Amino acid sequence: MVAASGGAAAQPSRQNTTQPESQPAAAREFPRSLYWGVATSSYQIEGAANEDGKGKSIWDTYAHTPGKIRDSSNGDIANDHYHRYKEDVALMRSIGAKAYRFSIAWPRIFPDGTGQPNPKGLDFYSRLSDELLAAGIEPFATLYHWDLPQTLQDKGGWQSRDITKAFADYAGYMAEKLSDRIRHFFTINEFYSFADMGHHGIEMKVGGGTTRIELAPGLKLAPAELSQVRHHAVLAHGMAVQAIRAKGKNGTQCGPAENISIAVPLIEAPAHIKAAEAATREMNAAYLTVMLEGKYTDAYLRAASRDAPKFTDEDLKIISTPVDFVGINVYRPTVYVLASDRPPGYRDVPFSASHPKMFSDWHLLGPEALYWAPKFVQSLWNAKEIYITENGCAADDKLAEDGNVYDTDRIMFLRNNLTQLQRAVADGVPVNGYFLWSMMDNFEWSAGFGNRFGIVYVDFDTQKRTPKQSAFFFREVAVQNRVV
Ligand code: FCB
Repeated sequence: MVAASGGAAAQPSRQNTTQPESQPAAAREFPRSLYWGVATSSYQIEGAANEDGKGKSIWDTYAHTPGKIRDSSNGDIANDHYHRYKEDVALMRSIGAKAYRFSIAWPRIFPDGTGQPNPKGLDFYSRLSDELLAAGIEPFATLYHWDLPQTLQDKGGWQSRDITKAFADYAGYMAEKLSDRIRHFFTINEFYSFADMGHHGIEMKVGGGTTRIELAPGLKLAPAELSQVRHHAVLAHGMAVQAIRAKGKNGTQCGPAENISIAVPLIEAPAHIKAAEAATREMNAAYLTVMLEGKYTDAYLRAASRDAPKFTDEDLKIISTPVDFVGINVYRPTVYVLASDRPPGYRDVPFSASHPKMFSDWHLLGPEALYWAPKFVQSLWNAKEIYITENGCAADDKLAEDGNVYDTDRIMFLRNNLTQLQRAVADGVPVNGYFLWSMMDNFEWSAGFGNRFGIVYVDFDTQKRTPKQSAFFFREVAVQNRVV
């Protein structure tokens, strides 16, 4: 009879598990300490392009170059956030945000990239920080979200090693001036995007076709030059981490905010999961892997061959200066993979032509990315703290006659993504915060104002802000601290 198998006492006790399997995912809470936040960046919302002593950035130049922006728009005014920041902070509060990730425009602080700081630029971020804290919103600042001072671009930009010192000096200055109020700094946003898309352009296969993406400064460098740009980016990050530690108040925390390339196992069986983990490590060789391991992988250097970056051992030490947390922007799987008997032990599976997508050209749907990305950041690099620094989608939002925006697709996207994030948290992955991209519709780079990513709708003629249904969804998630 059944007693032969050891009886009930030998069975694992269901009562003792904190997350019984029978409990629906939607009922599971996130850690109490997790920050529910929203995100933006300077060029995409601030406007005031030529005010209060701000210098020109490469995005001012690029957006004003005919043919570069789909709707021929630019960020001269954008959301006019520079003048409306108080209203925007009040709005964030009303939609339940407990944290706000914004970026600092380097050319507002150092109009020429280096040299004399501009007090009025600093004052803006100082006032913004005060306003956030008074509203009970924790400020998280990104130091570089792509708006490089044009003067530095004219001196070689990211191709020149001098930029690493310029960036570290600027980072140290910001930490010195604002770490009494800003406790978390992200060094650089999306290394892969600004380096590869800005200095070469990339092609993506979506829906059976190919989409090309370019960003400022819109260069088409040779492979060896691109390798060096990437190297300077991670070196600048490491030097900035050291500068923040040297100049910031004790306890100031910092780390990168990278759009990690993410391999998702097509089938969740141990061999495929292992394959996807190995693929993720290789795909991030030029960025997260070198920052967190202190060396370029053999496969990366072999594949680059003569075009590999030129670097010293000292560079690698600086690049891998320990960080307090790892920030990752997650929108979609980069690839699905399966294990393979042939080296390197995995193979990419092409997305089917009918794979569902969200509104942006590049945005294939794959909520599992928000499980596997933090999961692999923990398993590969043992990250102690992880922030989801961006997640969200664009939609073809319209104001309905009753004044609402019924963005059903965005809520579907967020609910499915957050369910996967909760799964990671339930596995013990240390996720400390989630920043929804974006707090409000804004200038979406080369796509102009046509790709609305906000949970708040913006009428760009009147600057009127209207929370969409997804803003109410977000507020409910934050209040209940679970997927709703
Ligand atoms: C990310 C960028 C962010 C925004 C979103 C949609 O790549 O960091 O500025 O454009 O995509």
